[in-house]
Amino acid sequence: MKFLVLALCIVGASCDLIPFSTDQTNKIRESWNQIKNNGVDILYYIFKENPDIQDKFPQFAGKDLDSIKDTSDFSKHASNVIRFFSELIPIIEGKPNVASSKFLIDNLAGTHKARGVTKDQFNKFRASLTNYIEDNVPLGKNVSAVWQKALDGVYSYLYLALDGNSFKLW
Ligand code: HEM
Repeated sequence: MKFLVLALCIVGASCDLIPFSTDQTNKIRESWNQIKNNGVDILYYIFKENPDIQDKFPQFAGKDLDSIKDTSDFSKHASNVIRFFSELIPIIEGKPNVASSKFLIDNLAGTHKARGVTKDQFNKFRASLTNYIEDNVPLGKNVSAVWQKALDGVYSYLYLALDGNSFKLW
């Protein structure tokens, strides 16, 4: 799938993100609506599975996770992460809005590359997010495949941007 997306980008005058059927669109939106207010829990889950991600945050590095979970800093960052997906989901649903998606993903890549965040850490973040969805959305395993498909597309662009190639292809 990554190869297909990349091939479309290279061949096409403009890049297309993977299009979604109505059923897939509904699954993404409905499952996100069920967890979008759980930002603190999601971030806690991600940090619990990946202490190295927590340690990238100067304000959280080396601290006991349970002692920071209820702080305003923690909920502020949880809101940042939730906002990224809440803004992205409507623009990748159905017929994806490539320009808006590009803006968000390029921005994420730029700010995080500057902090030394690696692809491996982004992968681990993704794995924990999808684990969270499977564990916390009713029938989560049924929506897991469509989330993987959506994240395949997002991450293909994210990797291009992290490698500094996105502007050559868009
Ligand atoms: C798809 C995955 C991710 C999303 C959607 C995301 C989202 C965000 C957003 C929206 C911000 C605030 C805006 C900014 O400063 O860039 C942010 C900040 C930050 N992110 Fe991420 N992030 C992701 C993955 C990661 C990973 C894997 C790490 C570390 C290994 C990380 C470390 C940080 C740090 C250190 C900050 C700055 C926090 C602060 O100074 O308050 N992020 N992230």
